[in-house]
Order: sequence, then structure tokens, then C-alpha cells
Amino acid sequence: MKELTSRQLRSLYLEFFKSKGHTIIPSASLIPENDPTVLFTTAGMHPLVPYLLGEKHPAGTRLTDVQKCVRTGDIEEVGDASHCTFFEMLGNWSLGDYFKKEAISWSFEFLTDEKWLGIPKDKLYFTCFAGDENAPKDTESYQYWRDMGVEESHIFFLDKKHNWWGPAGITGPCGPDTEMFIDTGKPACSEHCDPSCSCGKYLEIWNDVFMQYNKNENGEFEPLAKQNVDTGMGLDRTICILQGKKSVYDTDVFEGILAKISELSGKHYEDDEETTKAFRIVADHVRCATFIIGDEKGVTPSNVDQGYVLRRLLRRAIRFAMKLGIAQGGLPQIAEQVIAQYGDIYPELEANHEKIVSEIAQEEERFSRTITQGMKEFDKLVTYLKTNEIPGKSAFRLYDTFGFPIEFTMELAAEKGFTVDEAGYHEAFKKHQEKSQAGAEQRFKGGLADTGEATARLHTATHLLLAGLKKVLGDDSIMQKGSNITAERLRFDFSFARPLTAEEKQAVENFVNEAIAADIVVECKEMTLEQAREENATGVFGSKYGEVVKVYNIEGWSKEICGGPHAARTGELGKFHLQKEQSSSAGVRRIRATLSND
Ligand code: ALA
Repeated sequence: MKELTSRQLRSLYLEFFKSKGHTIIPSASLIPENDPTVLFTTAGMHPLVPYLLGEKHPAGTRLTDVQKCVRTGDIEEVGDASHCTFFEMLGNWSLGDYFKKEAISWSFEFLTDEKWLGIPKDKLYFTCFAGDENAPKDTESYQYWRDMGVEESHIFFLDKKHNWWGPAGITGPCGPDTEMFIDTGKPACSEHCDPSCSCGKYLEIWNDVFMQYNKNENGEFEPLAKQNVDTGMGLDRTICILQGKKSVYDTDVFEGILAKISELSGKHYEDDEETTKAFRIVADHVRCATFIIGDEKGVTPSNVDQGYVLRRLLRRAIRFAMKLGIAQGGLPQIAEQVIAQYGDIYPELEANHEKIVSEIAQEEERFSRTITQGMKEFDKLVTYLKTNEIPGKSAFRLYDTFGFPIEFTMELAAEKGFTVDEAGYHEAFKKHQEKSQAGAEQRFKGGLADTGEATARLHTATHLLLAGLKKVLGDDSIMQKGSNITAERLRFDFSFARPLTAEEKQAVENFVNEAIAADIVVECKEMTLEQAREENATGVFGSKYGEVVKVYNIEGWSKEICGGPHAARTGELGKFHLQKEQSSSAGVRRIRATLSND
């Protein structure tokens, strides 16, 4: 087995799949496009959902990439050996091109061939889907592994809980998978120990998903017109296994970041358990925050949506940095280290260098002002409390006055053996804010990347809206900063320094409605990025889609690089209503708009 660095693994992976006819595409943004079900990109396949559902991808039918991902569901687990909120996923895709046979033989070749990872064959174990009412037992994959020379005793059939992947949200593409494991050499925990066991003997390193179904809103699995392959290999995790380390934090990925924390705190990563935990939390959270702020659709700390998650990450990092004795001003320096390490691979970090550092410094400054006092208040609270439940109102006060996110208070409480009346907190919050969180709730109701008519129409309306804003505000520097569409409404963020006047809002609305009244064909053309630029197409996401891009043209009104899908004609859009225009974050405005049938 080769001792690889994370850099080497990244490039070997891409090189291998390039040699198998795949186009290397850049990582998409961490902020999902038109996906109402989640805040962040959580897997390599996520930005490719429309293409897995049948849209044509301009870079072809074989793709490979390293996708940046964020999963914050287990944020409180960070600090142990394996959890991270940010990770990179290596992946290769077949969009209706090759299927099980090739996917399996290439996975096997990459894992075992001396030219690539060179893992001894006898250390590898495999699992296949056992079958149920939705899909048959995957004897085909089993046979392909056997054809590679894998012993029968190294292949296990497991149920849906283990060998089915997706959808990433509530609806969307999914299918049975076959997973690859490495035997760490640890003794089996029992005679029943197999790759589904979490005792640590078998570690999963790769997953090949055969996406042939779409889970619809009724929970049914509809076969897709085309059979796709989606694979995912976690970079940090695989490096940890290949380097034979006990923790991802012990690999080269975190070396420089931990060294920086050590320099700033004067402590050592391995001093004691609590110090190790604090080092890991600070390292992980600052890395994640750096990528979120530095994203091409960058987010800044706020009290809603992605901004709130970012705030939680930073505030949790600040608390643990304080525990380590790191003075204010430390976090931005750790972020600098993250940028130095990843900047050549993710140029957006370099491009947003100043913004990352200043946003983190500002959040540190804001929270440093209140955290000490808030902690005192918290200590007082638990000292005088007669029960071991912190009242909702007190938790709300900690949030409102001292900036303690509720999860932050809950964690502090748990450390002292207390709980928090969460329902009471939310009640206090609601009362205080009056403003309903309908938007946030909506997000979890809708389907993932719903390609239905309603969203296609809103998507086309979004293009017209951007064109209208550029025209009315007469500002070429106006750029899309985010787009989120549910079946009911569109939400659009763009760079602009001040609120729009009533006249400007009206003029933008009129612009879109005039384009609708003109009933123009929405035409889609494929061209190179250079041609698109020459034709003055609006290109928000750089070369996200590789060399050849799709340009949606609404002749005379809008021309924009985009993946689709769209309405066929503007006349289908009905009537456009600009409902609300407000601030989203510094220098970014947010518009909500709907379409009606009248
Ligand atoms: N989408 C699959 C995963 O995330 C490959 O594991």
C-alpha cells in the first residue's frame, strides 16, 4: 500500500479517471443551486442531480471531480477522531454511459494496481445490495467483483440500510450501491463481524452507487430513463486509512493547521484529551468557515440559513480557542493557514483571501465582546437554578443579549449536566421576532432539485429578474450571489450596496412582465466558455461546467450561462410579482418573487 499525501491522492484519482475518458470538472459551489431541501452541498453528486435526472451535461457523459462538501448534522461530534464538518469527496460519474461492469473494474484497478493505490487485494472487502421490494438482489455486481478475482468470502450482501444510497434530500436520484472496505487488521469483534459492523475492523473507503431510480414525492421509486453511476471517496478519510493513522486529524491534511494552533496557544495537540479535542474543533471549524466564506457564492455570518451555520461554527471555534488560551486575532491567522494550504487547489480561497480574514476577524471581535459576560451569566444561571433544566426564556436571553446560538447553550448545559427547554426557547424566539420562519420550513418540505414545471418557470423568471436588475440599476457589476427556488417562489441574492427604491422595484417587475408578455422562445445553445463571453452571456459561476457550456437565450432580454431546466417560452410564466427586497448580508440584497397564473 502506498503512503500517499492528500495532494497525491487528489491528483492520482483525477488522472486515473481522465485516463478512462472522464472529463475533469471543477468543484461546484458549497451553496446548492436551486435546491430547497438543504443548506450546503453534502456530496459529490449533489450539484449533478439535474444531470443524473436526465439533463444533458455540457462536459459529456463521463465526469470526475473533487467536490467540496459541508455536513453539519454531527457538529457536536467534532472533536473525536473522525468527525469533520468540511470534507472533500472524490467522485466519478457515468451519465447514462457505462454501468456496473466498468465502474467495478475501474474501482478495483484504482484500489489495487501498483500504478495507483496498490492496496493488497486480500485486505479488501466488498458489499452488495441484498435486494428488496424496490430493487432485486445485486448478483451482477457480485459477479463483477468475482471476475476481478475477489474471493467469495470477501463479498457480503447487505440490506437497504447499508447498500442503498440517496436521495440526497427527500426526493431525487438514488439506487443500490456496492461499497469497498479495507480490513485494518484489528481482530474481529465477534463471529458475526462483517463490513456492516462499526467496531473498526472494516473501514469503508469508496462507494459506487448505481443510480437508476428517482424517489418521487409519494415515496415511490421510479426507474430513471438512463442508468447512471455515482461514486464517492472521502479524501481525508481515505488518506487516514492509507497512512495507517488513527484519526483524520493525524494526517498531513491537518498538520499545518494544528501546528498553527500550537504556535498560537503554546500548547501541544497531544497534551491531554481535552486539549486534543479543542485543537480538533478549532481546526475543523476554522477550515469549514474558511471554505464557506471563501466560496464563490460566499456566505457571511448572520442569524439565518447558511449564515447561521457559519456563525455557530465560528462561535464554537472561538470558545474552544479561548479554552486553549488563544488570544483574539488568532482565528484569522488559522484561516490564513487554511488558505495557504488549499489556495492552489481552490483558487476562490485566494481570490477571497481578504474577505475571509476580515469576516472571521469581525465575528471574533463581535463575539469576544459578549462571550465572557455571557459565560458569567450562564454560570450564575446554573448555580441558582432549582431544576436541571434551563428555561427557554433564559436561553433566549443568552442568544439575544450575548449572541449564544441555542446549540451553543445546549452544549454548555450538557457539559454541566443540564438540559435546555428548547420548545420554550423557540416560543420566546417566535414571540420576539414575530416574523415567521416560513422560508426555512419550506426548505424541508420541497423535493430536491424538483425539475417540475413550477421550478422551471421560476428559474426562467430568475434569469429575467437578473437582466432586469442590471438594466434598471444600470450597473454591470451586479452579480448573482445566490439563487434558491421552491415550487412556490424564487429567492435571489445579488450584489448591490443599497436598498432599491419603490420606483426601481416597479421598473424591475415591469421589465420581467414585459418579457413575459412578449412571449419569447427560451432557446438553449451549447458553446465554449470563450464564445459565451464573446456573446456577452452573463456567467455567474465561471467555468463551473467545464469547457462547453449551455447558454439560455431569451433574445433581446437575457442571455445567461446555466444548466437549466427552463420554461419553453416566456409566455408560460404567467405574471411576475416582486414580493420583497431586503438586505441579505453586507453588500448583498435579496429579492423574493412569485409567479401567478393571471
Ligand atoms: N453519493 C455517494 C456518497 O456520497 C457516492 O457516498
